[in-house]
Amino acid sequence: MYTPVSSKAPFIWHGGDYNPEQWSSDVWQEDFRLMKKAGITAATVGVFSWVSLQPDEDTFTFEWLDEVIAGLHENGIKVVLATPTAAQPAWMSQKYPEVMRSDEYGIRKAHGRRVNYCPSSTVYRQFSAQIARKLAERYKDHPALILWHVSNEYGGTCMCETCAEHFREWLRARYGMLDELNARWWTRFWGHTYTDWSQIMPPLANGEVLTHGLNVDYMRFMTDTQLACFVNERDVLREITPDIPITTNMMGSYKPLNYRKWAKEVDVISWDSYPRPNQSVGEIAFAHDLNRGLKDGQPFLLLEQTPSSQNWQAVNALKRPGVLRRWSYLAVAHGADSVMYFQWRRGRGGCEKYHGAIIEHAGREDTRVFREVSQIGAELNRLGDAIVGARTPARIAVLLDWESWWALDEAVGPMRDKRYVPTVSKHYNALYNLHLPVDIVFPDSDFSQYDILIAPQYYMVKPGVAEKIEAMVASGGTFVTTHLSGMVDETDLACENGYPGPLQKVTGVWVEEIDALYEDQTNTIEMAHSEKSYTCGRLADIVRPQTAEVVATYGSDFYAGQPVVTRNVFGEGQAYYIGSDPEIAFLEYLYRSIADRYDLQPVLGVPQGVEVTLRQKENKGFLFILNHNDQQADVALPDGIYTDLLTGKQWSDTLTIDAGDVAIVTASD
Ligand code: GLA
Ligand code: ZN
Repeated sequence: MYTPVSSKAPFIWHGGDYNPEQWSSDVWQEDFRLMKKAGITAATVGVFSWVSLQPDEDTFTFEWLDEVIAGLHENGIKVVLATPTAAQPAWMSQKYPEVMRSDEYGIRKAHGRRVNYCPSSTVYRQFSAQIARKLAERYKDHPALILWHVSNEYGGTCMCETCAEHFREWLRARYGMLDELNARWWTRFWGHTYTDWSQIMPPLANGEVLTHGLNVDYMRFMTDTQLACFVNERDVLREITPDIPITTNMMGSYKPLNYRKWAKEVDVISWDSYPRPNQSVGEIAFAHDLNRGLKDGQPFLLLEQTPSSQNWQAVNALKRPGVLRRWSYLAVAHGADSVMYFQWRRGRGGCEKYHGAIIEHAGREDTRVFREVSQIGAELNRLGDAIVGARTPARIAVLLDWESWWALDEAVGPMRDKRYVPTVSKHYNALYNLHLPVDIVFPDSDFSQYDILIAPQYYMVKPGVAEKIEAMVASGGTFVTTHLSGMVDETDLACENGYPGPLQKVTGVWVEEIDALYEDQTNTIEMAHSEKSYTCGRLADIVRPQTAEVVATYGSDFYAGQPVVTRNVFGEGQAYYIGSDPEIAFLEYLYRSIADRYDLQPVLGVPQGVEVTLRQKENKGFLFILNHNDQQADVALPDGIYTDLLTGKQWSDTLTIDAGDVAIVTASD
């Protein structure tokens, strides 16, 4: 249960992307010296090194990589070995133009950039499996190898003729008969009925983009196709090195790929965290919890973050002193078993030469960033294996669903900007502000282990999910859903019995009309049993309770006095329907009152801006205390003596934490 990602590296990994192929071997020696000094324990190599490993179709040049891996190993640094398949060599694109991707007009792109291969290309699949095999055969017994990192940040889409052909096959397998496809896509609308499979094209930008069933299916198909590229390499690696875990770096709430599906194929989730400098801590925590949720609570790897600044935003502010450290432990607190960076050393050319790095162009170690990274290195070294594999228990779940998101965004009306992820994050953040731990779950998750399940804007409800929700509520749970939920089935057809479709039974309401509000327009939520009032906006459902009771009503407009929030008693439990988008204070109020019903309390009582998150292993708890504020704070500890694993300092009664500081405490035995 509490196994480390690799038994060869049972500690919180500290490292990041290392591109020795951009440098001469004397620089490597300096890299190894500096890595050791900074407490780097894992280096990711090979990410974009395809042409350096295979300069032409028949030549392989692994000698430089042998030397790099040997050098890392001699210096006690473990190796995360990437397959280089995110960017094919120019010779390949030149000789086999079909490996290149086509754009949203179906026009083949020119060679260049990265992730510019057609995921359906047989040639690409063969070459990528071949290089994966060569790497695995060569390094399979290397003691430094701890993880396979397949390719890099899969993503985007391809709309070439090969993909179109594969899409048609994918559709045949899904629908069997063309009549069935026409019915599920509602193609009689505007006379779009297909009379032959060959007429179906990808959703080309100058073509069919308004048949939403098609668009959603193409996103499903692209997820499957790119995942097949991953599996194609993974199977080779697994065959040769069955004991080395395999991952690919994901991008959090990245819309084009349904990562829940990917999660089943990787051994460990890993992801690249690039928050905007002004992003709230709660939003960053949400992204980490999403990654932890992908494999049902299994710890994940933070594979990349910038040690200082990004370079691809409009304005690239530096992480202020201490922020890197605090955000690194934020990741660990929420389930990461590594702290890794992009990039070790800034290249002198290429579009990432101004991206943050541990070693910048001056090549010096007497820098703020090097000192901050080294401090983290020393602390992780001290932590040893204490936290590795520990879980983050939660009784509250927030649901996110990629396919529902895709369909929702396709919908024309009732308002253009659906704000799906921001809305899910807002509900999460209400709980974060209440200091209540949350798991992110998906429609195929086990809901029965939670007291509270919240599914904001849960637009597409697939068969079987409503029944699972009903069972969870009937046995005493609470379900909360909102406007824009239960509107379509899995092929994007509107529910026959109106909204919220299959969630009507558990919520005990139906929705008669949906009003959309302009940005500057608001309504109010007037509580039925108190004087309290909250603002709401964006959308306003006119809700008709069937069996539900009214919790709050609208304060204005022609539907003033009509229900906006309802509660339905269902079996031993209850289900809430929120018909509008409330200010976060309402959600905090509602979720606090629901949590009371289950006696769910924060891990510790702490002031706003101080976070306490628990990771648990066997019977040991580790409290991560993160002071995100500019002032020192006092935290009341439960009875006992606590040791801060980062400093060795002991605390009892009250722990004083400096502004911006972090403590990881555990009860002394
Ligand atoms: C991604 C990639 C890296 C690098 C960074 C820059 O996460 O995986 O190769 O481009 O972005 O932020
Ligand atoms: Zn293609």
